[in-house]
Amino acid sequence: MLTDPPVAPRAEPLAVASRHTPLPALLGRDLEVPLADGTTRLYVNLDYAASTPPMERVADAVNAILPWYSSVHRGAGFASQVSTRAYEAARATVARFVGARPSDEVIFVRNTTEAINLLVHCLPLRPDHVVLSTAVEHHANMLPWRRLARVVYLDPPPDPEALLDSVRRALTDRLRPVGIVAVTGASNVTGEVFPVAEIARLAHEHGAMIAVDAAQLAPHRAIDMVQMGIDMLAFSGHKMYAPFGAGALVGPSAILGNAEPMLAGGGAVTYVTLDDVQWAQPPDRLEAGSPNVIGAVALAAACEALDQVGMQHVAAHEKRLLAYLDAHFEDLPQLRRLRLWEGKDVDRLGVATFTYEGMHHALLASALSAEHAIGVRHGCFCAHPYITHLLGVSISEAHDIRERLRRGEHRDIPGAVRASFGLGTTVEHVDRLVIGLQTLLEKGPKLVYVEDRATGDYEPVDDRRTFPTFPFLPSLAASGHALGCGQF
Ligand SMILES: Cc1ncc(COP(=O)(O)O)c(C=O)c1O
Repeated sequence: MLTDPPVAPRAEPLAVASRHTPLPALLGRDLEVPLADGTTRLYVNLDYAASTPPMERVADAVNAILPWYSSVHRGAGFASQVSTRAYEAARATVARFVGARPSDEVIFVRNTTEAINLLVHCLPLRPDHVVLSTAVEHHANMLPWRRLARVVYLDPPPDPEALLDSVRRALTDRLRPVGIVAVTGASNVTGEVFPVAEIARLAHEHGAMIAVDAAQLAPHRAIDMVQMGIDMLAFSGHKMYAPFGAGALVGPSAILGNAEPMLAGGGAVTYVTLDDVQWAQPPDRLEAGSPNVIGAVALAAACEALDQVGMQHVAAHEKRLLAYLDAHFEDLPQLRRLRLWEGKDVDRLGVATFTYEGMHHALLASALSAEHAIGVRHGCFCAHPYITHLLGVSISEAHDIRERLRRGEHRDIPGAVRASFGLGTTVEHVDRLVIGLQTLLEKGPKLVYVEDRATGDYEPVDDRRTFPTFPFLPSLAASGHALGCGQF
């Protein structure tokens, strides 16, 4: 077992637990994971921005509904009636959580990616329609729009005021009248919370609608679609403590109800002949196939629990931890923090993204895992244009990277390491990260690592970690080769 030197306290002791309703407990908080030297250690999960562990209350809700699991909207049996009502009750809870209007629909989807693809599909877009967006978006809020419309990207703005100025300017461009503004609620790479309400006000003043990618916002900040003026909203359950395969698209019935369904099939229709179909009204129209009632209930249970705690307390918890981490990072000047906006007043999620010149991001992340039992994400965070900007990758370097990737060479691709927080994060977790980084920066990795050409990931040469076994699955080690952690 590694014994770490204590971290000198840099900030006031933290009253991290809320003085109000206690923060909901998460599963996996006592997870012991193996280190490459064969010992085990309490796992430090600092990868909430990718996916969160489930809340205990979500798991309880799932266990409570499972015996009642039956077909939704399709059965006369009592269990079917319970499942159907549970599914619709979950919809009402999700609508309340995001402050939807009575005229909005909540469509259950798999995740934010599906929600935005569905939204783009439903909007009556044409190639000459202008969608205003930014270069900092996650690919999920970038690629679907450009399939069907002309997207104008605002450069990564140096501060929130510059963002609002450039939105204002773009909205008054008479040559390119904007119909939709599609922005993130918060950056998944650097954590800045975007001034969504102000952007919505500007959009509406100029006759445009606003669609918000709330994958990162929904788990960490309060959302009120009415107050903030959000027309359309997308988010994922697996990023808000409900990893059971459900997310949501929320938007006006008038828009979602007029579209051809993206998926055609059972449940989405009122009448079918051999040569015609009459589509149902939403939400059914956009939820063809048997619905994921368990996922919907899990998402609703998470919404309910977050509501009870109060999103302001969730945000306060994460901000205190970020301030604590920021203070300690001052002792690690070798790290280059990546940020869009600087300054103490910037509203930032619990996200710290950084590079270290002395070590490739994939090696740093791998050593944090193999030697310190710390889980972070590294790579490009599905935001290539933004990370290219943050890292200052030149046009010729970008060309070279693109060519290498085209040839299947994933070695030595630029990127960064991201540590991200959530409800289950504690001061001890931050201390463990700081100690792990201090050790790696000062002494280098203890072990020897090799880079996998195919994935670009690093693996310790002498790796004694074994995977847990599950009686219902073949051996997890069976594939015998590194699967890569999807740096991109
Ligand atoms: C800002 C943002 N948008 C969209 C997505 C896509 O979410 P999902 O993978 O759940 O579809 C993510 C995921 O990381 C994200 O961070």
